[in-house]
Amino acid sequence: MSYAQEYQHSLADPDSFWGTAARAISWIHKPSAALDSSNAPFNRWFPGGTLNTCFNALDRHVALGRGDLTALIYDSPVTGTKREYTYERLTELTAKFAGALRAMGVDRGDRVLIYLPMIPEAVIAMLACARIGAVHSVVFGGFASTELAARIDDAKPKVIVSASCGIEPTRVIEYKPLLDRALELSQHQPDNCVIVQRPQATATFKDTDLDWTKLMKSQLIPPAECVSVEAADPLYILYTSGTTGRPKGIVRDNGGHAVALRWSMTNIFDVGPGEVIFTGSDVGWVVGHSYIVYAPLLAGATTVLYEGKPVGTPDAGAFWRLVEDYRVKALFTSPTAIRAIKRDDPDGELIGSHDLSSLKTLFLAGERLDPATYDWATERLGVAVADNWWQTETGWPIAANLRGLDPMPIKAGSPTVPVPGFDVQVLAEDGSRTAAGEEGAICIKLPLPPGALQTVWGDDQRFVESYLSRFEGYYLTGDGGYVDPDGYLFVLGRTDDVLNVAGHRLSSGQIEAALASHPAVAECAVIGVEDPLKGQVPRALVVAKSTFTGSVEQLSAELTALVRAEVGAIATPSRVDVVTGLPKTRSGKILRKTMRQVADGVDAPVPSTIEDAGVLDRLREVLRPT
Ligand code: COA
Ligand code: AMP
Repeated sequence: MSYAQEYQHSLADPDSFWGTAARAISWIHKPSAALDSSNAPFNRWFPGGTLNTCFNALDRHVALGRGDLTALIYDSPVTGTKREYTYERLTELTAKFAGALRAMGVDRGDRVLIYLPMIPEAVIAMLACARIGAVHSVVFGGFASTELAARIDDAKPKVIVSASCGIEPTRVIEYKPLLDRALELSQHQPDNCVIVQRPQATATFKDTDLDWTKLMKSQLIPPAECVSVEAADPLYILYTSGTTGRPKGIVRDNGGHAVALRWSMTNIFDVGPGEVIFTGSDVGWVVGHSYIVYAPLLAGATTVLYEGKPVGTPDAGAFWRLVEDYRVKALFTSPTAIRAIKRDDPDGELIGSHDLSSLKTLFLAGERLDPATYDWATERLGVAVADNWWQTETGWPIAANLRGLDPMPIKAGSPTVPVPGFDVQVLAEDGSRTAAGEEGAICIKLPLPPGALQTVWGDDQRFVESYLSRFEGYYLTGDGGYVDPDGYLFVLGRTDDVLNVAGHRLSSGQIEAALASHPAVAECAVIGVEDPLKGQVPRALVVAKSTFTGSVEQLSAELTALVRAEVGAIATPSRVDVVTGLPKTRSGKILRKTMRQVADGVDAPVPSTIEDAGVLDRLREVLRPT
């Protein structure tokens, strides 16, 4: 089947296209149709269908006689551990933890927040929630207390699952004090916290804290069976950064998600039962949710959970070692990871010292894939390097080179073409479609395909306002770009105040909120400036209060520490400059984009709405020192 035929089919007759795809999933009750748009724009996929996502990811494979197949490989150079779990074993452990959640009173629809490092317990906890119809919300371990507290207050979890620590190459990060601090900051309190005690740090327990290992060993807790949930019932909430400081809880359903991810494994990633995929991301990000956990297991494949870095654990050959050891067919990571490897091993010598004959494709996503990184990886690895573009909101690739369906020639700088189900259109300011080669806002004509967000948790209005109100009938991705005459999409970057640091999504507002909490700060702005390794890094510009008389260096250091303590080390500003004013429009809006353009050396016109061009002129030297 050709890409063009499949694409046309998916848009012309979504019911038939997705109805066929849904046959790859085990339903308890088969859906009566594919799409229910009776309550548009709150479309629902697979009305009438009931299923269990955990059953499809685990028990189903055991029932099909594939219980001995390896489901999960845990490889942790930071602890010196390697462990494999068959489908049968992972099912047992998941059923047991699901029983433990039940025993704590967690029921269908209740939320469970998971704040864990890259350990198997994270996967087990996610699947255990799915098993009993609870809604998980995984928070990336690199986020600190304030961010964690905001998510606790929004999701209102009945139980939080965490660990004594995470392990970074140079230090042990104690999670429990971060969690305790978050619970001091949050209004909402869970009934219980379950803590995985790791040998590298011992957590101090409170009365309501329970030990993971003891729960799993308890003879009193029966394992839980899979419950039946509606296709549209929420599977998880994943918070992501919008343009303001307040995170948005992206809500994913069960049915659409299972169908879309299963389809993507075959058609985009070309991974089937028994084949091995290694996704070098973190379960706290959408790439980790979809391609470390759900899609590989839904497909009956083997997934590698790697607790380490692309470099330094122990060297830039770490990923190639994993490919060789586990006969990885598909490697999926971020361009930043490849740039880090390239920086440490520019000639790719460590590539040559491993047997990479199993590797068919390197998939890259999470940020723009610059042509230099694409060229380096293609030349050194000698396999297809397939960029794919998507977001937390969509849950799976919007644009990709469909390696399993119809591999197409690759053009550096482009994730190739829109994926079936996504009616991608580039729109001009007035809502008209741009001509080939002309830049505009990348939008998706509604309805979004299965697997994409259903709403923002607890805030339908924010869903409509953030994504659906700019152009009637379209979802606004927030990225700008163009389509070339061959139909290839080129994504140029965010058009809003979202930052992308090492493939991690952060918002200006999130970091600004931490800076503004310092008593000496009158106002501040955070911009994402270009960085050769991380794509972008945050830079902060701060105006001190007129009463401030202290040292500017000291203030910068305090502000850096504040961001690390409140948002997390991943948001550390590369510089904090104390300045006399920030450029604004006459209506008082800070001109972040203009400052970013100056910092990046982009020769763009100064907006005519600027209140005082002199403020920007005085900042030029700070933004882009000569
Ligand atoms: N928990 C706690 N802290 C974390 C963390 C986590 N899960 N992840 C990162 N951090 C900390 C780091 O230890 C570092 O702290 P430091 O400033 O005290 O040294 C800080 O956050 C910044 O980390 P990072 O942005 O990762 O930079 P780095 O210089 O430590 O490492 C790379 C550089 C390239 C190796 C790293 O950014 C990387 O692995 N990037 C790939 C990311 C990725 O795969 N993203 C996928 C999203 S699809
Ligand atoms: P996240 O929601 O964290 O996955 O981040 C989504 C954002 O990352 C997108 O809106 C893009 O700005 C950026 N992004 C992700 N993948 C790509 C890609 N392949 N090319 C360019 N930008 C990307």
